[in-house]
Amino acid sequence: MAAPFICYFTYTGNSKKIAETVQAYIGGNTVEIRATTPYSSNYQTTVKQAQQEHNDLSYPAITIPAINWASFNNLILVFPNWYDSIPRPVATFFKQADLKGKNVICLVSNSSSGTGDCITDLHDVNDESETIDGISVSDPSWTGYVDVVKSDLN
Ligand SMILES: Cc1cc2nc3c(=O)[nH]c(=O)nc-3n(C[C@H](O)[C@H](O)[C@H](O)COP(=O)(O)O)c2cc1C
Repeated sequence: MAAPFICYFTYTGNSKKIAETVQAYIGGNTVEIRATTPYSSNYQTTVKQAQQEHNDLSYPAITIPAINWASFNNLILVFPNWYDSIPRPVATFFKQADLKGKNVICLVSNSSSGTGDCITDLHDVNDESETIDGISVSDPSWTGYVDVVKSDLN
């Protein structure tokens, strides 16, 4: 099995930590999906902007290193649940991703709503992958997702 490729988007750092834990236990390259115009460090400002982007189903510009899609089968995508859905920079990433034949494993960082509508919403953005699975991570001290990811790898 080739090493997975790990992409993460984070605002407060939890998804970054999860991505680093996956990389430490399973291996693979890790890249960050960044909004080209960074979100404000003011939480309320970001909450308002994220809500607007969610309502508009917008595709904000992102900045991410080039990805060699042919080099892996398993894409591990780590991001927070925003409004029971995907942060819209993740939608931008997923829309432009070359997902044919890929096994996508999502780790959804959240405070209480689990994976919400994230997996359905990812399918709506791009339905070309082989599979999209979602794992909820609501307890920052829980690392049991490592074994779940391992068992999901192709
Ligand atoms: C704009 C915004 C919307 C959020 N919406 C939800 C939500 O609907 N359900 C939930 O459980 N958590 C929600 N959260 C909490 C985050 O999903 C949670 O704190 C997550 O661990 C943050 O991950 P991060 O540190 O990688 O940004 C929201 C946070 C923000 C900033």
